[in-house]
Amino acid sequence: MDHFTYKNNELFAENVAVAKIAKQVGTPFYCYSSATLEHHFKVFAEGFQGLDTLICFAVKSNSNLAVIKTLADAGAGADVVSEGEIRRALKCGIAPNKIIFSGIGKTASEMEFALNTGIYQFNVESEPELELLAKTAQKLNKTAPIAIRVNPDIDAGTSAKITTGLKTSKFGIDINHALEVYKKASKLKGIKIQAISVHIGSQITDFKPFEKAFIRVREFHAELAKNGIEINVLDLGGGIGVPYDAEKNPPPHPRDYAKIVREVFKSFKGRFCFEPGRVLVGNAGILVSEVIYVKPTDARNFLIVDAAMNDLIRPSFYNAHHDIIPINQKSAAGNHKYDIVGPVCETGDTFAELRTMPELKPGDLIAFRTAGAYGSVMASTYNSRKIVPEVMVKGDKFEITSRRMSYDEMFEREILPDWLK
Ligand code: LLP
Repeated sequence: MDHFTYKNNELFAENVAVAKIAKQVGTPFYCYSSATLEHHFKVFAEGFQGLDTLICFAVKSNSNLAVIKTLADAGAGADVVSEGEIRRALKCGIAPNKIIFSGIGKTASEMEFALNTGIYQFNVESEPELELLAKTAQKLNKTAPIAIRVNPDIDAGTSAKITTGLKTSKFGIDINHALEVYKKASKLKGIKIQAISVHIGSQITDFKPFEKAFIRVREFHAELAKNGIEINVLDLGGGIGVPYDAEKNPPPHPRDYAKIVREVFKSFKGRFCFEPGRVLVGNAGILVSEVIYVKPTDARNFLIVDAAMNDLIRPSFYNAHHDIIPINQKSAAGNHKYDIVGPVCETGDTFAELRTMPELKPGDLIAFRTAGAYGSVMASTYNSRKIVPEVMVKGDKFEITSRRMSYDEMFEREILPDWLK
């Protein structure tokens, strides 16, 4: 459910016409709906009513401060993977005791920052990381609350690039060796064992792998208890898929995910942490772009638009599908097959091939749906294109929440060496 709907053939974000925003901020731009963000958080949280939960928004999926703050105000904590993301979470008023630090490559200085901040939990992904964390905590005279992220060797059934729970993945510690690592951790000064964590991948649309992974975690939890290690926190990660393609079967509802959690862990009495990203922000954002040219060739009919792979990399990087819709349904009639492409100088800068669309002309506006997750955060200035603005809508208001980059900003970090001056 989202708040991007047509009213009299015009696409609206909540109560604001998308064309009106385009007129004011220019294209391309990202547009987020705060009501959709709030709704998604509420729906996710409702599934776990009555349980002790900490729902940490995976900041990597959309780190715009206004997005983080909207979710924080709704009650979210933050799942972060860098010092930069911790700083973003803090800037949005998220309490340190609602921050979980994930990631396989935490540096000593990031650990120091997190320890001084007093975050809720470090999700440790290797023995060398555990050792460095213990050393760093000892140096600061602090204690690091940890989870070991276990790798259950379960295929999440999603794209290989975002599968994280296989033996061959770089993530977590093989669940078959994790007991030894917990035993080791229990003896380390500066470390407090707090949780077990697991995250098997992203955009998971069949929930069976979740169930399998959770059952494995439940067994492991019991094995730890048998060995005298009592754990009262389970961090079940993120990964719930969203419907990118309106025509295909949508993935199950977050409530079905909650049902699995409740069922598998019905005898667990502690706290559950979650790290949802995409399911909260995916459908809460669109990328709006303008058609520059229509270029028919013998083989294809190219729709050349002003957004490109540097603005939204998912189609070229993951072969991801995004629904693409006209902003004005009236000006768009008939059925045409387009290759929708950006101006970047590589063939990979293709958003869709042979996509059936109404007829579009230069100057028409289109929207890429489900662009709220892993959209703006993955943008670059490739081809010296400016980072596009982000806008948030609330009811009948909208505001720019990140300005379009200027050329001065693009160049300001670059320095000509003396010998070239
Ligand atoms: N927790 C951990 C440890 C993660 O690595 C991730 C995502 C999440 C939570 C949030 O997962 P989500 O609920 O959003 O599925 N750029 C890719 C997705 C990368 C996912 C990285 N990890 C894409 O555009 O599909």
